[in-house]
Amino acid sequence: MAIISNCTPSIIKNAALALKKGHLVAFPTETVYGLGADATNAEAVARIYHVKARPLDHPLIVHISTLKKLTNWSNNIPNYAFKLAEKYWPGPMTLVLPRSNLAKDYLTGAQENVAIRVPSNPISRSLLRDFENLGGEGVAAPSANRFGSVSPTSALDVYSELGNFLEDFDQIIDGGKCKIGIESTIIDCTGILPRILRPGQITFKMISNLLQLNLEEKTAQAVNIRVPGALKSHYSPKAQVLLSGIASKGDGFLAYSSTPTPDGAIRLGKPNNVIEYARILYSALRLADDLGLERVFVVPPAKNGIGLAIIDRLNRACYKNSRLL
Ligand code: TXA
Ligand code: MG
Repeated sequence: MAIISNCTPSIIKNAALALKKGHLVAFPTETVYGLGADATNAEAVARIYHVKARPLDHPLIVHISTLKKLTNWSNNIPNYAFKLAEKYWPGPMTLVLPRSNLAKDYLTGAQENVAIRVPSNPISRSLLRDFENLGGEGVAAPSANRFGSVSPTSALDVYSELGNFLEDFDQIIDGGKCKIGIESTIIDCTGILPRILRPGQITFKMISNLLQLNLEEKTAQAVNIRVPGALKSHYSPKAQVLLSGIASKGDGFLAYSSTPTPDGAIRLGKPNNVIEYARILYSALRLADDLGLERVFVVPPAKNGIGLAIIDRLNRACYKNSRLL
């Protein structure tokens, strides 16, 4: 497996060719790094599940270069989904839509819908365009981490997660650190109204404002999950993540820069605002594991905007402690 850091056009073309030949290519998006495979190649997609140790009933997001390709993958697209796509693609948003014949069971977990995204990161856009120019239809890509662990936001993170499981002709494209740092907003567009399945940078307010819909009550529930039983442990470092209590000597600590580090605690990050908080969240949790820390105390951001998405990830990261916000 090669790590490619000098992303010239010919190098990206070569990566697109590797995808077309059925190899895996990990690539940067503005949210997190994805582990890509040709979405129409059953064997290549099977390797994603194998490399991630991911259960087969967790379907994959198909990445395409442009909204124009959407109707290849989906039929009966509701009008509101087109409105969302026109406004927020390319960008950190995934739409779940009724599938076309192209989206096979091995991609959708045998569901009748398929998740689609057009990312905005320039490397991912070139890669997808080159792949489509070679006759490809789309690139299936989950976050490039082992199942249940923290998503990678740098090529080195991908290497430390998956380096042992990738093969000779697979590639990792190094495009630097991801700008946003947490995964895309996932919106279920299979019903009469949209429903947020996973909060992200495209917030509930942005969606309801754009569509002039009063989604407040419904989606607030979806983004502000309080029921422990409804939460799965995910996005989880080895260290125990705690959202209450006081850090003591040798504990990790993550909070806004305005909050001082408790005596003897090890500062893992000091974001100045909520955007920075999202960007550094996963690398701070990874740092805790690299330092072999047992506990990480986190002071979360306020519960609005992308803060809700951060809290969603933190709740999942600390699920095993059952102390949810
Ligand atoms: O930002 C992102 O979305 C990143 C980058 C690489 O695009 N991808 C990502 O993929 O986070 P993944 O597989 O790690 O998370 C996608 C989530 C999974 O929980 C999966 O079960 C859900 O989306 N999902 C995928 N297809 C779905 C579908 N058809 N219906 C409902 N949920 C779906
Ligand atoms: Mg993931």
